Amino acid sequence: MSSRPLFIAPSVLAADFSRLGDEVRAAEAAGADSIHIDIMDGCFVPNLTMGPGIVAAIRAVTRLPLDIHLMIVEPERHLDAFAKAGGDSLTVHIEASPHLHRTVQQIHELGKKPSVALNPHTPLDGLDVVLPELSMVLLMTVNPGFGGQTFINGVVPKIRALRAELDRRRLDTDLQVDGGITPDTARTAVEAGANVLVAGTCVFGQRDYRAAIAALRVR
Ligand code: DX5
Ligand code: ZN
Repeated sequence: MSSRPLFIAPSVLAADFSRLGDEVRAAEAAGADSIHIDIMDGCFVPNLTMGPGIVAAIRAVTRLPLDIHLMIVEPERHLDAFAKAGGDSLTVHIEASPHLHRTVQQIHELGKKPSVALNPHTPLDGLDVVLPELSMVLLMTVNPGFGGQTFINGVVPKIRALRAELDRRRLDTDLQVDGGITPDTARTAVEAGANVLVAGTCVFGQRDYRAAIAALRVR
């Protein structure tokens, strides 16, 4: 199991967009560790969400780190814009990044934390060479594109295998899970080795954000 602390990253995808600033401030006041922002392009995933302008608006209302999840094709074309908008960690999908090593270097050069996301069916193999360069790996526990889906239990052995590999290589890399996180699935994911939990519905869909975040602190 990870020695890294457990971090809770509420996903604003489930927030009330008409009151986005207030929602982010409320999540910060309720104890969130970072803010997860889902960028979707209608191409890599079927849904469309936000761009760098919204990231900059969120940057202006919180001191928390902004965790930018890029569900877009050709992410290398947009890294600069999301870095300038105030993203702290930039997560690209391995399935959308044929030149992953170069893309990771580009994120380093922008002075940001590089992270790579894997869809539920994507094996860990492609991470091998870049793993020492990453601050975080995101293992999707739903198929990306929408909030409010059910956690895919079949990903749990992959969480365990990645944590074992990080331990074997003595890497201090965060292991994030995203999709269908509830207090129950949080426990499953954390027991398997995850230490960063993204939660949309299970924070912004609740009445009491502080209680919702506390319920996800399963260790
Ligand atoms: C899905 C997004 C998630 C989403 C999670 O493509 O990457 O971050 O907001 O939402 P919940 O927690 O509702 O499954
Ligand atoms: Zn996400």
